[in-house]
Amino acid sequence: MADTSLMDKLVSLCKRRGFVFQSSEIYGGLGSVWDYGPLGVELKRNVKDRWWDAMVHARDDIEGLDAAILMHPKVWEASGHVAGFTDPLVDCRQCKNRFRADDPRIKGTPGQPDAQCPVCGTRGSLTEPRMFNLMFKTFMGPVEDSAAVVYLRPETAQGIYVNYLNVLQSSRQRIPFGIAQIGKAFRNEITPGNFIFRTREFEQMEMQFFVQPGTDSEWFDKWREWRMEWHRSLGLNPARLQWHQHSGSELAHYARAAFDVQYQFPFGWQEIEGIHNRGDFDLSRHQEYSGKKLEYFDQAQNQRYLPYIVETSAGADRVTLTLLVDAYREEEVEGETRVVLGFHPSVAPIKTGVFPLVKKDGMPELATTLYHDLRKQLSCFYDDSGAIGRRYRRMDEAGTPFGVTVDGETTMNQTVTVRHRDTMQQDRVALGQLMPYLRDKLNVDY
Ligand code: GAP
Repeated sequence: MADTSLMDKLVSLCKRRGFVFQSSEIYGGLGSVWDYGPLGVELKRNVKDRWWDAMVHARDDIEGLDAAILMHPKVWEASGHVAGFTDPLVDCRQCKNRFRADDPRIKGTPGQPDAQCPVCGTRGSLTEPRMFNLMFKTFMGPVEDSAAVVYLRPETAQGIYVNYLNVLQSSRQRIPFGIAQIGKAFRNEITPGNFIFRTREFEQMEMQFFVQPGTDSEWFDKWREWRMEWHRSLGLNPARLQWHQHSGSELAHYARAAFDVQYQFPFGWQEIEGIHNRGDFDLSRHQEYSGKKLEYFDQAQNQRYLPYIVETSAGADRVTLTLLVDAYREEEVEGETRVVLGFHPSVAPIKTGVFPLVKKDGMPELATTLYHDLRKQLSCFYDDSGAIGRRYRRMDEAGTPFGVTVDGETTMNQTVTVRHRDTMQQDRVALGQLMPYLRDKLNVDY
């Protein structure tokens, strides 16, 4: 049974604390499009930074790229998206709702008299399935005709394939090497939902690794291992992570083999990242459609070939949702419910709260100075309103690992209290030692 109450609580916390808002809310919202508020944008940025650090900064064999969203329309013919990026769609003639034909809530066969609409319950009202392309179309230039059609990219990968020789030559890389990119993608999903899990506008973090044919399986296995390690390094509960191997019928048209990293959400085990062995499908199609040679000349082996590609493709929004779900907990403390987002410090939007115990006796001045010092190195939040317990609770809900309180003793002996979010334990720390103390805890202990 799906724990829908957890999702409801999370959606409401996300709005209340400024993680995620519905897009265009004052106009009634736009279906399955979401905006990230002050805390959400920091959380998602931390996810993307962690990915970029692991994929680009920490490796000599991967280069970064930021390709445009709009691409030549032939790209999408070559990639197979114009012909095949479709879902079967059925309409209910009675209540006008639309569903994917394979929606498990539909009883019977759509188009047949026995089929029952999962929303209004009418029998025989569902149409025959028709194929619906998920790409958003628009027009380039002032004329809205078929010659001017361009698409909002449904994946970032194609921008990498069409630039692979540019990157290879300009960066003086040799195969095996990879290209990494983070960027927006758009899909006109028929059944989006589950908050930011499946949306119509989202961000992907994709890396395409170009290898010599024959070495692809070996690289595929390595990338599977590295990508799972990365998800674990975000502090996710390892028991809620698993692999799902695609069976023959599940494999995308481009894939020779595919595994998904799945997370156990309240609505079931679901994909957060796909690792695909794409063979030479993409480069051979772009070579064919563009008429440009995309082969690599391997000097060491005096051999020309089209590289095979191992792809790692994660959703920044899905990983953000995973972190929120994984971090959410409620505890009873002194007869009250404490809501905590127990983020790993590396992704926490705010690392430290800074508080004067009371608004007098020089405490606000000292706390303000401390806040300005700390924020040069860590993301901090200053709060002097309300009882200290309330301020701690607000930081718990924001997932802030530490709270630093300036109190009466601070003026006397130059020490502050550091309160730990998870244990609520409080340590007395000398002001001179505060930054190394926080750095140590933020990097190592959590
Ligand atoms: N280039 C391969 C590709 O795009 P995919 O499995 O369709 O593969 C990869 O997508 C990842 O992108 C998924 O694992 C997911 O994290 C994210 N993603 C895909 N569709 C999404 C959607 N509608 N909303 C949010 N994230 C999505």
